[in-house]
Amino acid sequence: MKSLHSYFEKAKKEKFAVGQFNFSTIEQMKSTIRAAKKMESPVILGTSEGEGKFFGLKEAFVMKEIINLEYNVPVFLNLDHGKNFDFIKTAVDIGYDSVHYDGSLLPFDENIKRTKEVVSYAKKRGVLVEGELGVIKDKSSVSKKDFTSLSKVERFVKETNVDLLAISIGNVHGVYVKMPSLDLNLLSEIRKKTEIFLVLHGASGLKNEDIKNCIKRGIVKTNINTELRNVWKESLKKELSSKEIKPYKILEKTEKVLEKRVIEKIKTLHSFKKI
Ligand code: G3H
Ligand code: ZN
Repeated sequence: MKSLHSYFEKAKKEKFAVGQFNFSTIEQMKSTIRAAKKMESPVILGTSEGEGKFFGLKEAFVMKEIINLEYNVPVFLNLDHGKNFDFIKTAVDIGYDSVHYDGSLLPFDENIKRTKEVVSYAKKRGVLVEGELGVIKDKSSVSKKDFTSLSKVERFVKETNVDLLAISIGNVHGVYVKMPSLDLNLLSEIRKKTEIFLVLHGASGLKNEDIKNCIKRGIVKTNINTELRNVWKESLKKELSSKEIKPYKILEKTEKVLEKRVIEKIKTLHSFKKI
């Protein structure tokens, strides 16, 4: 299998983004892998610290490997928004392909210092590191002071030596109450400052057009979580309210709707037929 790094290189050259789809249940994981197979797309399975603790990091690694024996597609694991160094180290040791260290709430120098520690541990073990500059909020009220500071980008990238950079350009986590207006100009300016792989978080609920514009301007990885959680919950609610009691029948339907949504996202990200 080609490396995750090589898929980011390809994405940069051919203008698509590799989707990160978070999961904390087996049906979420299976549906993403199946969607990847159908679309011939590389995909990243993401676990936040909470998701990783619930599912188990070892379990995530082993289950991904076992399920993928049947599908044989490029599926990678990323630890998403890691804050605890020991937890990040465990993910690296277990075999995650990349880790995201989120020091975005720390003072700038502290963010650099801690990100560097993660880079120094992960990189010698062949694991990619994503850093974060600018604050990606958890609600839709976003203010420009949270945006990635253009003047800090070069120093952050150079000093930390990260492989990927998560940026804040008006994107937020969760469901957008009010449609954001992404600062695409800032994204282009960031792109001019650095060749680093750029990451768009909080893609749930964004207009396809916005996502496509971000890819045109240099985004090569896009994180999607809330939208899939909502699909999962709505589907389960519906199936649980029927007379059906067989878990494999109930969950099979949930897997199908999740797979459909991941396929839609892969189309938007233009990562199909890229294996
Ligand atoms: O890191 C995870 C993503 O940024 C998910 O954001 O839940 O808004 O899709 P989202
Ligand atoms: Zn995020």
